[in-house]
Amino acid sequence: MLTKLYFDILRDIIYKNTGITFDDKKKYFVENRVKEHMEELGITSLKDYIYKLKTDKNILKEFISKITVNETYFYREYYHLRALAKLVQTENHSFPVKVLSIPCSTGEEPYSIAIVLNEVLEDLRKFEVVGVDIDTNAIKKAKEGVYGSRSVSKLPSKYLEKYFDEIGPGRWRIKDFLKRRVRFYEGNILDRLFMKSLGKFQYVFCKNLLIYFDDKARTQAINNLYDVITDGGYLFLGHAESVSRASSLFEPVKIEDTIVYRKVTEEEEDEW
Ligand SMILES: C[S@@+](CC[C@H](N)C(=O)[O-])C[C@H]1O[C@@H](n2cnc3c(N)ncnc32)[C@H](O)[C@@H]1O
Repeated sequence: MLTKLYFDILRDIIYKNTGITFDDKKKYFVENRVKEHMEELGITSLKDYIYKLKTDKNILKEFISKITVNETYFYREYYHLRALAKLVQTENHSFPVKVLSIPCSTGEEPYSIAIVLNEVLEDLRKFEVVGVDIDTNAIKKAKEGVYGSRSVSKLPSKYLEKYFDEIGPGRWRIKDFLKRRVRFYEGNILDRLFMKSLGKFQYVFCKNLLIYFDDKARTQAINNLYDVITDGGYLFLGHAESVSRASSLFEPVKIEDTIVYRKVTEEEEDEW
């Protein structure tokens, strides 16, 4: 049983390293993950375990991997992919179009983006996609690019045939020609220097992460996203997320039947 003191220490470690907040209702969840991890490591005392988390980066990474929620699948929230396709066809921008998916979890989102871009641009050289996630194991799976039937269940079958090889019953591997257009990195959205090192993107997908953040972490994340988006570029957020608190940085725009956020440039801000 986790005492309140140990739960507070653990959620502080999680918050400082990821920005994710766990309220009291999530204690059982943290407790189960900690128990599982301690068993794997052969550690019996919580005090020793916490010491390990604080002193061993690899053990901390394993812990982060256990407490992150990696739920994702191909063509999730398809309306955003449709809006991206529309923008790419109508905006006047330079090629290659660069798109960032952060967090990308096990890769389904950035590969879906690559499929859509290849369909509308019909030229692999015209786009580059980057996927970033804090979870080492998720990034490893993304790089492998092998998926089960649940992951691909929303993907139209013509794209499954075109972009995947079936490597076993219900096991699908992304074809190399598409895989080569998607790069993956392990990283933290709250790490300003890391974010700046990624360069600039015309489109950034940041979906189903900010819901786990408090106001402070969310503001920091939005500021870091602002830095990686080109002037006039677009931010896509999950349906339960918005940038209303930092509305001077982005303006909401309706594309097709969804809202995306266009980066307001410094000159446009001055006009106000
Ligand atoms: C629910 S998944 C979202 C995946 C995808 N964007 C989607 O909507 O399907 C949330 C991901 O956020 C990642 N994550 C959590 N904290 C993060 C942070 N500070 N920086 C980057 N990724 C983070 C987790 O590892 C997890 O894979």
